[in-house]
Amino acid sequence: MSEQPSTPEHIAIIMDGNGRWAKERGLPRREGHRAGAESVRECVDACKQIGVRFLTLYAFSSENWNRPAAEITALMSLLEKFLDQKAEELMKQNVRLQAIGQLDRLPARTRAKLDQAMARTADNTSLTLILALSYGSREEITDAARSLVADAAAGKLKPEEVSPELLASRLYTSPFPDPDLLIRTSGELRVSNFLLWQISYSEIVIFKKFWPDFKQTDLFEAVAEYSRRHRRFGAL
Ligand code: FPP
Repeated sequence: MSEQPSTPEHIAIIMDGNGRWAKERGLPRREGHRAGAESVRECVDACKQIGVRFLTLYAFSSENWNRPAAEITALMSLLEKFLDQKAEELMKQNVRLQAIGQLDRLPARTRAKLDQAMARTADNTSLTLILALSYGSREEITDAARSLVADAAAGKLKPEEVSPELLASRLYTSPFPDPDLLIRTSGELRVSNFLLWQISYSEIVIFKKFWPDFKQTDLFEAVAEYSRRHRRFGAL
C-alpha cells in the first residue's frame, strides 16, 4: 500500500463540550457556544494554512432539536451571525461553504442566510467548509435507502445493482471524499450519529479539552498524530 500523505485531505470534527465549558465558568450555555464559534474560526484558518481540502463540522445534530427552545434559538442566531460576519472573510480566504443535513428543518431566516453564503462562495477553490446542520447519520442513510427503493419501485433499479458506491452516491456527502481524520473534543468515546458510513476507515483522535479550548495548535497536533499512524484499510 502506498504511503499516505501527511496532511489529511478531509478532517471531520465533533465539537463537544460547549455546555460544560460554560458551566465550569458559571456562565449560561449560550456563552459556551459563542466561545465555540471562535474555535471554528481558528480551525478554518489552521486547515487553510496546512492545505486541508475539506473540513466538516458537526454544528447541529438531528437530536439537538430536542434541546430547550432558548438554546436552539441561541445556536441558530450564532450560526446566522457567523454566516453574516464570515461570508466576506470566506471570500477573501477562497473558502467554499457547503452544508449537509435536513436543511429544510432550519428556520427560514437561517436557511436563507446559509443559501446566500453557499451561493456566494460556490466558486471558491481552496478549502471546502461543510457544516453539518440538522444532521443525523441514520436519517441520512434512511433517506438514501428511500431514494433507492423509490427507483426500484419505479422499475429503474434492480436489487443486484445496489452497491456500496450507489448507496454512497445518495448520501448528502456524495460530492465529498470520506474523512481521513475524525476529531472529537471533551473526551467522550462516541461517534454520536455522525457520518457513520463515511468514517469507516477514518483515523480517530480524541481530545480531553472542551471545544471552546480547542486551538490551532490542537488541530496541528491531531494532524501530526494522523501522519504517524499507518493506515492499512484492512489490508496487510
Ligand atoms: C456541543 O456542545 C456543541 C454543539 C451542540 C453545537 C456546536 C456549535 C458551535 C461550536 C457554535 C456555532 C457553530 C458555528 C458553525 C458558528 P454541547 O452543548 O453538547 O456541550 P456539553 O456536552 O458540554 O453540554
